[in-house]
Amino acid sequence: MSVTIKTAREIELMREAGRLLEKVHDELADFIRPGITTLDIDRHGEKLIRSLGCTPNFLNYNGYPASICVSVNDEVVHGIPKSTRVLQEGDIVSLDAGLIYKGYHSDAARTHAVGQISEEARKLIDVTRQSFFEGIKYAKAGNHLYDISAAIGGYAESFGYGVVRDLVGHGIGTHLHEDPQIPNFPQRRRGIRLAPGMTLAIEPMINQGRADVVWLDDDWTVVTQDQSLSAHYENTILITDGEPEILTLSR
Ligand code: CO
Repeated sequence: MSVTIKTAREIELMREAGRLLEKVHDELADFIRPGITTLDIDRHGEKLIRSLGCTPNFLNYNGYPASICVSVNDEVVHGIPKSTRVLQEGDIVSLDAGLIYKGYHSDAARTHAVGQISEEARKLIDVTRQSFFEGIKYAKAGNHLYDISAAIGGYAESFGYGVVRDLVGHGIGTHLHEDPQIPNFPQRRRGIRLAPGMTLAIEPMINQGRADVVWLDDDWTVVTQDQSLSAHYENTILITDGEPEILTLSR
């Protein structure tokens, strides 16, 4: 598949898909507290998505068994919600969610504190979020895709963090995953030239320790090899003639 340029009508639908997903994330943020299970989060998230008239796009994607990816502490991404996994004060939890609105996909992730967390954990969450914003400073028509990648990775590595290399961001639209792939670290080449109408999911995954990750036996959950904490932050964005529009974040 090649990189698609969305029409004005498609962009309107992507905007609405993004706006509705932001609502879901805002409600899930309020829902997080010690004592709930990761399955509680999935149930609540799926209900929210459906109540907005949308469909969860992760559910059954390549066999993924839930609507929200819930990844705790050393889990990087794609944690599977479970009734036996109870959030504890001091945990950090990454929620990755997506939905389909009138055939158009949105995708976004946030990492939250569960109650009071350590200063080091807070810093990891904040730097991961900021690395996204450092990256999208380059998300402008005429720039090259890997300008974004280099800015994200350079920023996170300047704090001594490990930037995950085995998973990447992606184009998004009528499919959850479209071309191009978007690494979060510098590349040898420049990548495609960015153009107005491209919609991209930019999603840094940053480890407190080394970048290396391993897959658990469930074939989904990605964890840090050194068991250090990991954070994830993602938005769906639109390339315009000027500044990028963040479709899954309005403030
Ligand atoms: Co994504």
